[in-house]
Amino acid sequence: MPAATKLIPIVKIPDPILRQIAKPVDEITDGVRQLLDDMAATMYDAPGIGLAAPQINVSQRLVVIDCGKDDAPELYKMVNPEIIALSEEQSVLEEGCLSIPDQTAEVKRPAEVSIRYLDETGTTQTLTAGGLLAACIQHEIDHLNGVLFIDHISRLKRDMITRRVMKELRQTTAS
Ligand code: NI
Repeated sequence: MPAATKLIPIVKIPDPILRQIAKPVDEITDGVRQLLDDMAATMYDAPGIGLAAPQINVSQRLVVIDCGKDDAPELYKMVNPEIIALSEEQSVLEEGCLSIPDQTAEVKRPAEVSIRYLDETGTTQTLTAGGLLAACIQHEIDHLNGVLFIDHISRLKRDMITRRVMKELRQTTAS
């Protein structure tokens, strides 16, 4: 019987793990599968549409994504995802991040992305996506490389968002 999933606390900026390059996963063990399940449960609980392992303080190349509708979930569990192609065409979407609470900004990225990854059985999968899923995939793979959505916006906006989150964190800690 599979173990029950558990919710894991989400790391917030400025935690340094969010700026590290995560390590590739060598072997997909039961422990890795459990971690992916726990990440999915944590993502749904937040709620969010994507979560990368560094956000739960694990510096490994694991991502979960679900950009489906509430009544039609579409969960991807990805091990060692890699971008293999990006479109020339760009698109702008509003992004947020569970590690940068309550802040959003418009981010410009390639409109379409193709990736390769291992699923939880160790089978290589390829996926080409557009729209919200394309942005989400790029956002989550960025996390594995220590990159945050605020790195894609102007310095002025980035500083503003960082200041707001720091202020919020100080107030939470003080209370
Ligand atoms: Ni994020």
